[in-house]
Amino acid sequence: MRVAVVGAGGQVGAALVRALAGHAVLAWTRADFDLEDFRRGCDLIRASRPQIVILCAALVDVQRAERESDLAFRVNAIAPAIIARASREISARFVYISTDYVFDGDGGAPYDEWATTRPLSVYGRSKRAGEVETLSAHPESLVVRTSSVFGGPGRNFVNAIRQVALSGRNPRVVADEVSSPTYADDLANAISALLAATLGGVFHLTNEGECSRYELARAAIELSGIAANVDPITTAQFRRENPDSAPRPRHSALANLRARAVGVTLPPWRDALTRHLCTPAS
Ligand SMILES: NC(=O)c1ccc[n+]([C@@H]2O[C@H](COP(=O)([O-])OP(=O)(O)OC[C@H]3O[C@@H](n4cnc5c(N)ncnc54)[C@H](OP(=O)(O)O)[C@@H]3O)[C@@H](O)[C@H]2O)c1
Repeated sequence: MRVAVVGAGGQVGAALVRALAGHAVLAWTRADFDLEDFRRGCDLIRASRPQIVILCAALVDVQRAERESDLAFRVNAIAPAIIARASREISARFVYISTDYVFDGDGGAPYDEWATTRPLSVYGRSKRAGEVETLSAHPESLVVRTSSVFGGPGRNFVNAIRQVALSGRNPRVVADEVSSPTYADDLANAISALLAATLGGVFHLTNEGECSRYELARAAIELSGIAANVDPITTAQFRRENPDSAPRPRHSALANLRARAVGVTLPPWRDALTRHLCTPAS
């Protein structure tokens, strides 16, 4: 299979390049394929004729999306739709990675793939628009919702918490925001399994279980053997101190119902975190 990974420099993109090592992988970074210049990107797709296009690039900075909403919709919704259409034109399958932030977090239980979406932030709205536009442009597309991703040495919540603790400070972390943390390598292997099974539509893929941001931070520090505490705070307190912060869902754990039904499961998040922390340069 010839597989194009758009956004190969990000944590999910890099993990997919590793997971798909047995295939002919076209690993495109922003320098090769800028979503703001999607026409050039579509030309690259037509010229390279991959059988699968996986879009991992996105504007993922939730705060930046609030400030630059036009850019968020261009990068997270308009460009994906055009890339999905270009993929369909060459009969390539298309994969769009989405987020738990399409939900409001008030459901009281993990969300399944058919749950009603109600994003709270510009980022969430732009990603929901990306899902809708993608499936309209290329109905066979695979839309994978995931959450709280960590993996590799780059910027993510787990690595940021460790850096704060290693600098001798106690991280302050919200204790009433719950999700299902997900290791990029486990996510990539699961996406690879869904592609092998030629499945399409919306799938939820997260590591098993759920925890608060505070619990995730504590586990990261304990498993790293760092002598630091984590100070829990409430979302209300955080928002009082950061009045411009984007609203985030309080309980956005995902139930991976469709993946489990086809035998694709991810290990528990704590096991995944241990493997991430054991990886050199993480
Ligand atoms: N991270 C999470 O917690 C999380 C949770 C749920 C869903 N997701 C979704 O998972 C997918 C992958 O995210 P990730 O965690 O791998 O994020 P990431 O590590 O920040 O990677 C995002 C990549 O997108 C690239 N990018 C941004 N704007 C671009 C543009 N205009 N053109 C081309 N490339 C651009 C970035 O390049 P630069 O480095 O050059 O900016 C970066 O390599 C995204 O669709 C995201 O919405 C992520």
